[in-house]
Amino acid sequence: LTNGELIEWKGKTAEVYSTISSTSDYKPTLLGTIPQLGEKEALEVLNSALKAYDKGQGLWPTMKVVDRIACMEKFVEQMKTKRDVIVKLLMWEIGKNLPDSQKEFDRTVDYIYDTIEAYKQIDRDSAKFEKNDGVYAHIRRGPLGVVLCLGPYNYPLNETFTLLIPALIMGNPVIFKPAKLGVLLISPLLEAFQNSFPKGVVNVIYGRGRVLATPIMQSGKIDVLSLIGNSKSANALQAQHPKGNRLRMVLGLEAKNPAIVLPDADLDLTVDECIAGTLSFNGQRCTALKVLYVHESVVDEFNKRFIAKVDALKFGNPWESGVKLTPLPEVEKPGYIKELIADALEKGASILNEKGGVLTDNFIFPAVLYPVNTGMKVYSEEQFGPVIPVIPFSDIEEPLDDMAESNYGQQVSLFGKDIKTLSPLIDTLVNLVCRVNLNSSCQRGPDVYPFTGRKDSAFGTLSVHDALRSFSIRTFVASKDN
Ligand code: G3H
Repeated sequence: LTNGELIEWKGKTAEVYSTISSTSDYKPTLLGTIPQLGEKEALEVLNSALKAYDKGQGLWPTMKVVDRIACMEKFVEQMKTKRDVIVKLLMWEIGKNLPDSQKEFDRTVDYIYDTIEAYKQIDRDSAKFEKNDGVYAHIRRGPLGVVLCLGPYNYPLNETFTLLIPALIMGNPVIFKPAKLGVLLISPLLEAFQNSFPKGVVNVIYGRGRVLATPIMQSGKIDVLSLIGNSKSANALQAQHPKGNRLRMVLGLEAKNPAIVLPDADLDLTVDECIAGTLSFNGQRCTALKVLYVHESVVDEFNKRFIAKVDALKFGNPWESGVKLTPLPEVEKPGYIKELIADALEKGASILNEKGGVLTDNFIFPAVLYPVNTGMKVYSEEQFGPVIPVIPFSDIEEPLDDMAESNYGQQVSLFGKDIKTLSPLIDTLVNLVCRVNLNSSCQRGPDVYPFTGRKDSAFGTLSVHDALRSFSIRTFVASKDN
């Protein structure tokens, strides 16, 4: 989709496979083909967005609030008619189970409506400063320019839209490349984009990320890089832009969120939250719990209850009832998880659960590894999959020191009861991460709360309200007349 036109592509294409087999003997399923655009098309799409922005004078950046809202409402109404097909594609393309696929779609629709409401309110009350030296100002928020938007495979609809929707509504034209996995589920929305927004405001390109993003970044003509993915890709893209360090960016990156289980934690609740935190969508969430620190006085009991629940989880195809564990969409992921397990075993850990590490063509059963230490790869790398390191500790300074040393700083889950212990600990933890979840697992939602992180975990803040600020700038007219 470029310049308001859906171009029929006659060039090179790539096949998209699902790791879910449609036959009883394992064979990946061909789902469709996508265009493989090149540098020339990438620059055409860039020009389309630049034309729509027209140095800030275009129809979209100058449009009235009510009219921009009308476009967004038109889009979301049309999007709602595509629920069934998009939910189906979420299951086939990325293996997300049916309830979570439905939730991803519905959450995205809610997010759009909430963004519209927040947009109506944002900074409407021009700041009134009493000590203004007789200079009056009407302060508002304006667009930043052309935004390049790159979303992740684990939430190819929802997280991509948490970048795209606020960027758009604030008046920025967008160039958007769907994630490699989850790429097909965007195509049912192309006509809705085309029908709802002025020409060139939404541009969608297909192909290999590096091939397409490189000429766009090197042109120096985009104003914002927005990406949910890994810091290595973000750094490489940023380095290609002539403005380098001064490029505006909104980034959601990797994390290694820990759980800390104190001696007085309610173990039943803790185990249930740790199951959800480590294994929802097979652990393929940046907010997943990726390391469990359990006090040595309760670690044996915790492990016993935890592995019983892990082994009871049902594996199957995403549409089957009660299925929690599903095929992994990345073909190379089971092999990578196997490598992490082998490294931990070699360095002294064991797999505690009976089914742990059992490998099939498209899945590896979650392995609970114990005792893990900081020298193991499963501690230092973001596993983004079904393997759970458990670290025993005797002194709370041990997990705190590890967190302070870590490259990441998104969230933590803290399990315990005694408020006198919890309170000073929370004061320390909020200076190491951005969200402390008390007796609950880590998560991004509800979407009104700030979603961000320290160090390599994020740059800028997302959420219904914060994202509107991240994709805009405050502008004002100053005058001596009130
Ligand atoms: O992958 C990172 C996502 O932001 C996780 O979102 O906590 O809602 O599953 P979630």
